[in-house]
Amino acid sequence: MNTGHRITLAPGGLAFSCGAEENLLQALQRVGVAPDLLAAIPVGCRGGGCGVCRIHVRAGQFHTGRMSRKHISEADEEAGTVLACRVFPESDLEIEVDLSAANPITRSSTIAKQQGG
Ligand code: FES
Repeated sequence: MNTGHRITLAPGGLAFSCGAEENLLQALQRVGVAPDLLAAIPVGCRGGGCGVCRIHVRAGQFHTGRMSRKHISEADEEAGTVLACRVFPESDLEIEVDLSAANPITRSSTIAKQQGG
C-alpha cells in the first residue's frame, strides 16, 4: 500500500508527508506547514491555471497534471519548475518555493513582508 512520500523543503529541511492521492499544494495546506511558508505559496485556482503556486523540485520523481503554459514553459517544466497544485509525487521529493521574478505574486508578498507590510 502506498502511504505517500516524504517532502523536504529547502532551505531548512522542514519535512512533511504527501499522501498518495494528494497533490503537493493539498499536502502543504493539510499539514499547515510554517505560516511563513504558506504565505509564500499563495493558493489560487488549485487547477494549474493561475501560476501562483510555483515551486522548484530539486530531487525526486513526480508527475504533473495539466499546467498553464502561460505560467510554466516547457523549459521550466524540464528544469523542475512546476505548479504545486498539479504535482503528484512518485518518490520522496526535495522542493523549494519559487521566489523568482517569474512569480510576481509571490515576490510582491515576500517584499511586502520584508518591508513590514
Ligand atoms: S493554485 Fe493556481 S496554479 Fe496552483
